[in-house]
Amino acid sequence: MKKLNYGMVGGGPGGFIGDAHRRAINLDGQAQLVAGCFSRTPEKCRQTGAELGIDFSRCYASFEEMAKAEAGKLDFVVVVTPNVSHYPVCKAFLEAGINVSCDKPLCLTVEQAEDLVRLAREKDLLFMVTYTYMGHVTAKHIRRYIQAGKLGKIRTVMAEYPQGWLAYEGEWGGKQGEWRCDPKQSGGVNCLGDLGTHVENAVSTMTGLKIRRVLAKLDTIVPGRVLDDNDAVLVEFEGGATGVYWTSQVAIGRDNDLAVRIYGENGSIEWKQTECEKVLMVSRDGTLIERHRGNGGIEPEAAKYGRLPSGHSEGWLESMGNLYRSFFECIRAKASGCFAPDMIDFPTVEDGAEGVRFVHACLKSSESGNIWVDL
Ligand SMILES: NC(=O)c1ccc[n+]([C@@H]2O[C@H](COP(=O)([O-])OP(=O)(O)OC[C@H]3O[C@@H](n4cnc5c(N)ncnc54)[C@H](O)[C@@H]3O)[C@@H](O)[C@H]2O)c1
Repeated sequence: MKKLNYGMVGGGPGGFIGDAHRRAINLDGQAQLVAGCFSRTPEKCRQTGAELGIDFSRCYASFEEMAKAEAGKLDFVVVVTPNVSHYPVCKAFLEAGINVSCDKPLCLTVEQAEDLVRLAREKDLLFMVTYTYMGHVTAKHIRRYIQAGKLGKIRTVMAEYPQGWLAYEGEWGGKQGEWRCDPKQSGGVNCLGDLGTHVENAVSTMTGLKIRRVLAKLDTIVPGRVLDDNDAVLVEFEGGATGVYWTSQVAIGRDNDLAVRIYGENGSIEWKQTECEKVLMVSRDGTLIERHRGNGGIEPEAAKYGRLPSGHSEGWLESMGNLYRSFFECIRAKASGCFAPDMIDFPTVEDGAEGVRFVHACLKSSESGNIWVDL
């Protein structure tokens, strides 16, 4: 199979998620990195390019230059810069006719999000937003299980994503913490954009529920900080189900503890990303069922993404790799004229836009004295 060619914007020296994308993409050996604008500083960009074996002539000083020069040469671009640049970078590559994989949150404003949706549709390009956790086999299992109606009508959902790494101003966080807490680089929110969008996407992906309105309290707990670092959101879904979301960066002792509990008419489901190889289910009569990736109890459309036998742990990188597996399948299908939209098994630009709408409704709610705001 011919390798796909990709470029990357971001992911320079010390960058976190860019390196994770490269490793996840490498899992299946389907694509090769051939170009990049890895940093705003040209020397750092060339340093990363050299480390990764990229031709010097394809290490660019700016993403604008890269998008122009690489039009027609890349199968896709990966955008892994801080939030503020997602919109201009994605727009430049869509305009150059290149498929995009961008990390979350999609962008800063609803207008920008709608523009990216419009542009991707107009250009007929694939656009993935890497809500990494939804690549887990177990997350995909829950989605299929609920889609098949096995949990019955959903009544309520509790979801949380607490972290403790920003519990003190200036002590932890490094450059990743610095830009997240800076409104110029992060937008109008910090914690809600960083973690709340994961929660919103996890619940909507697993349950298929669509949010009707939210009531939010965004708090800034750590002295000296201007953006939120602890958020509570009440959610009302179309159809009447309710939800409670909590995200925090000051929860000492919590790492990346994304967890979702879904309560339906026929039972409940509990999923934790820190124990992502299993799903806990309780049926109506109280019977506890623990389903493990790699075993027969996993829905086949989810199980097919597993790479290892049960008990040989798969984790976060494999989850990211699973998103790319579907993305690559769609890129190849498009190239050979056999693509159908129902092949898409990754979060799309529309899902990313829903996350931005969620953030802005919560911001409006919180700033208006914690009132209900429609999405
Ligand atoms: N999916 C996930 O689970 C997940 C996890 C972490 C971060 N993220 C997202 O990934 C993005 C990056 O976060 P991070 O933690 O890797 O940040 P980071 O600070 O570690 O890395 C950002 C990189 O982008 C480079 N950069 C900045 N502006 C640039 C520009 N204009 N052109 C080229 N390069 C540029 C920086 O030099 C740096 O190498 C954010 O949007 C964040 O929300 C997603």
